[in-house]
Amino acid sequence: MTENIFKTEGLTVRFDTPDGEVQAVSGLNLEIAAGETVAIVGESGSGKSQTFLSVMGLLSKNGRASGKATLEGRDLLTMSARELDIYRGRDISMVFQDPMTGLNPSLKISRQLTETLEVHQGCTRAEADKRAIAMLESVGIPDPKRRFRMYPHELSGGMRQRVMIAMALLCEPKLLVADEPTTALDVTIQAQILELFADLKKRFNTALVLISHDLGVVAGLADRVFVMYAGCVVEEAPVDDLFENPKHPYTKALLASTPRIDTDLENLEPIPGRPPNLQRLPKGCAFAARCSVAEQQCREIRPPLKGIAEKRTCACLLVRAEEREPA
Ligand SMILES: Nc1ncnc2c1ncn2[C@@H]1O[C@H](COP(=O)(O)OP(=O)(O)O)[C@@H](O)[C@H]1O
Ligand code: SF4
Ligand SMILES: [Mg+2]
Repeated sequence: MTENIFKTEGLTVRFDTPDGEVQAVSGLNLEIAAGETVAIVGESGSGKSQTFLSVMGLLSKNGRASGKATLEGRDLLTMSARELDIYRGRDISMVFQDPMTGLNPSLKISRQLTETLEVHQGCTRAEADKRAIAMLESVGIPDPKRRFRMYPHELSGGMRQRVMIAMALLCEPKLLVADEPTTALDVTIQAQILELFADLKKRFNTALVLISHDLGVVAGLADRVFVMYAGCVVEEAPVDDLFENPKHPYTKALLASTPRIDTDLENLEPIPGRPPNLQRLPKGCAFAARCSVAEQQCREIRPPLKGIAEKRTCACLLVRAEEREPA
C-alpha cells in the first residue's frame, strides 16, 4: 500500500460576513500519496481554492478552518505561524493562477528565487544563485542567466508562471499545489505549462494537486480526480473511470459542458442554473435544484459520500454500490 503524505479529515472552512456565516468547505476528507497527482475540479465557487489556502494558512482575515490537514502526520492547522512558515517554504508550496500575486514586482527574479534557499536551506549566495539558475533552465526558461537578473514585469505571462513554478520547486517540496495554473494563459502556453508539470512530476516525484474549473485541462495529468460541488466532494475516481463512466449527476453534467477533442463545440450542454448560496445550503442534496434526475427524497436527505466501487466514492442517493462478484 502506498503511504499518504497528505490527508485532510473533516476539513471545514467558514467565513464571517455582514450577512452571516458562509460555509465554503464542508467536512472534506482527502488523501494524497507520495508522488501522486490528483485533480480537484468543480465550477467556480465550489471551495477548491479555499481548501488549500486554509491548509497554507492563507485564508483572508474573516475565514477560519477546522478539522485536520496533516502533512506526514503533522497537523498544519494547529501549528504556530512560525512553524507553518517553515513547512510552507520547504515541504508544501502553491502556484497561483496569476503569477503576479506570488511575485514581488519590485524585486528582481534572482532575489525572489534565492531568498527561500538562503533562508530555508542555509545556502550561500553563490550556491543559491547556481541552483536557482539551474531550476529556471529546468522549467524551460531560455537564457536563464539573463532572465535571472530581470524584474517580473520584463517577462511574459507564460514566463512568469514558469518562474513561479521554479520558485515553488526550488526547495523540492513534498506537495505542490497548482491552483488554476494555466487559466490566465493562452492555449499554446497552457499546453506548454501542462507539459512542464508532466515532466517535473516524473523528475522530482513531487505529489501534485492540480486545481481547475476545467476537467479537460487536468485530464491528461491526473491519476485521480476529486469533483467538488458547494464545498463538498461529490465524486472521487481514477481519472479514466471518471471519464468513461461518471456516476454522479453533477460529474455527468460537468463532462457534458466541457469541450473535449471528440465532441463538437455545438454539442456542449451548459449546466442549467447556478450553485446554491453557501450561506443557506439546502437541507437535502446541494445539487437538487439543478439535477435532471432529482426525486422528492433528494430535497430532504443529504446524500453521504460513500464507497461505490474500488477506489471510487460518490455522494448521490440514486447511485448504489456496485455488486461484488461472489468469491
Ligand atoms: N473572504 C471571503 N469572505 C466570504 N466568503 C468567501 C471569502 N472567500 C471565499 N468565500 C466563499 O467561498 C466560496 C468558495 O471559494 P473558492 O474556494 O475560492 O472557490 P473556487 O472553487 O472557485 O476556487 C466562494 O464562492 C465564496 O462564497
Ligand atoms: S442525490 Fe438526487 S439531486 Fe442529488 S445528485 Fe443524486 S439524484 Fe441528483
Ligand atoms: Mg479558485
